[in-house]
Amino acid sequence: MRHLMSPLDFTTTELDRLFDLANDMESNMEKYAHSCEGKKLATCFYEPSTRTRLSFEAAMLNLGGKVLGFSDAGSSSASKGESVSDTIRVISCYADICAMRHPKEGAPMVAASRSRIPVINAGDGGHQHPTQTLTDLLTIRSLKGRLSHLTIGLCGDLKFGRTVHSLIHALSRYEDIHFIFISPEELRVPDYITEMLKTKHIPYEQVIRLEDSIGELDLLYMTRVQRERFFNEEDYVRLKDFYILDKTKLSLAREDMLILHPLPRVNEISVEVDEDPRAVYFKQAGYGVYVRMALIYTLLGLSDVLSKAEKEN
Ligand code: CP
Repeated sequence: MRHLMSPLDFTTTELDRLFDLANDMESNMEKYAHSCEGKKLATCFYEPSTRTRLSFEAAMLNLGGKVLGFSDAGSSSASKGESVSDTIRVISCYADICAMRHPKEGAPMVAASRSRIPVINAGDGGHQHPTQTLTDLLTIRSLKGRLSHLTIGLCGDLKFGRTVHSLIHALSRYEDIHFIFISPEELRVPDYITEMLKTKHIPYEQVIRLEDSIGELDLLYMTRVQRERFFNEEDYVRLKDFYILDKTKLSLAREDMLILHPLPRVNEISVEVDEDPRAVYFKQAGYGVYVRMALIYTLLGLSDVLSKAEKEN
């Protein structure tokens, strides 16, 4: 049995096979429409979500399976003090696979250690969001044609943004990757990540102004400032509109640069940008369904994505 806690849990070879499967599912939905009949996905969300929970549920329904779960810790027995360990032992009796989001870093890993069914980390605090990263990688591979030889700008809240942390780790395994981290001083990427990049000799720059580096980028990954992880409202208000990508700033970018965003968006991308062909964030949300279909199918043992790969890193 395999769980997914981090994007590094799968080798790059396994990821390639997973993305091939996701692309095949996108092109041939009917072929997979009954593949999970009789199987159930539990979505245990202790934190709010639109895309992750609903795309997991859409993915399981597309595969012919069923879904159950909760979307709010307050409506689960967590509100009475039940531990994640006890909850997953019970969920293991009700479902075949579980996607869990939790505000505490490491909670899905605790669940996985007690579970009799595969557990997928659907976001744990400010730590990791591996299925968003699978979505991001599938989007880049499908629309750019490669995951190597890329200059990637990550802009916004690089301190608390778990999607950023997962994506940097995942992309650091590909050839000729150059990161440009665009953030205010207070929201810089954590030191453990820059230490990892130094150890792996992966080039990165840290800059403050988006305008200074947007022209160099193959990809611009915008993020919102994570209000829910700030210790005080005053700092959030001061930093929340630090970056707003508009048509004027976008005019400095290359014609083939892609704009990604894990969403939800607040103010950091002006709606006037949405019609630009480089803006692919809504398409990206759509890829989230196909990659989660491929992941559920694989973790339920229905594909050979994981069978032949060798361990790397
Ligand atoms: N990208 C993402 O995780 O969105 P939700 O919080 O809506 O799931």
